[in-house]
Amino acid sequence: MQVVHNKETLLNKIREYRSKGNKITLIPTMGNLHQGHQVLFSKAPHNTIKVVTIYVNPLQFDRNDDYQNYPKSLQKDLDVCMQNNIALVYVPKGDISNQIMIEKNIDLPKFTRYLCGQKREGHFLGVYKIVKYLFSIVNPDFACFGKKDFQQLMLIKYLANTFFPSTHIIEVDTVRSPNNIALSSRLTRLSKESLSLAFGIFETLQNMKLELLKGNSFDKLKEESIKYLESTNIHVEYLDLRSLITLEEASDNLKSCGIFIACYLDDVRLIDNIEI
Ligand code: PAF
Repeated sequence: MQVVHNKETLLNKIREYRSKGNKITLIPTMGNLHQGHQVLFSKAPHNTIKVVTIYVNPLQFDRNDDYQNYPKSLQKDLDVCMQNNIALVYVPKGDISNQIMIEKNIDLPKFTRYLCGQKREGHFLGVYKIVKYLFSIVNPDFACFGKKDFQQLMLIKYLANTFFPSTHIIEVDTVRSPNNIALSSRLTRLSKESLSLAFGIFETLQNMKLELLKGNSFDKLKEESIKYLESTNIHVEYLDLRSLITLEEASDNLKSCGIFIACYLDDVRLIDNIEI
């Protein structure tokens, strides 16, 4: 496994792989690798070279304290990459925002304005910029992204369709702990007590789905669920029924839709979703 820190070395390595006729799978991460990332790595098609990037991208954080507190564990991450047959890891040094081409008048699709896009100003623009930057260097044949970040996945698919039509996006199901907590690097910031409450997030989504399918109205379920979650110290930022295609609000029309949640436990923001 090779670890590179600058764009030129990365580009040279990519050219070398290509000149030997290899196909490349890119897995961009922000580090603090957990089981969920390892599942992403495992979805790279066989016989492709696996390239991982580890970079906490300041452009996608709307709060400086959240950026500063984002968990970092580079040495452990590199061990995990090694165990997962990663060929190349790109770990940019410091803040590379000024290397990222700043296009003018970027017009992101409407769905990026909802849910996390509404609550975290600039977040998806930051994700778009870093992923476009990485794709333009690597021009991967495949790239893996998780469904926990469903809205991000939609944006990546839009980005690939628009600018990198030969890149196939591999969508990976959310990986959960035995009690169904969606794995996230942010979980390491929770106290033991809060971690023991986090199972309530997906449990609530599952119950809401069951009740919706029985014909109960979403608005009533939403009110009850928020009350329940708040009573267990989980503070809800949004809890919405949305189209999986457009992310528009779906009211009680259950065709191709899902329930999306963002909430705070301690001061840690967690998201999850369930398809109906
Ligand atoms: O999902 C993430 O970890 C990040 O948003 C990504 C895609 C690596 C871009 O920084």
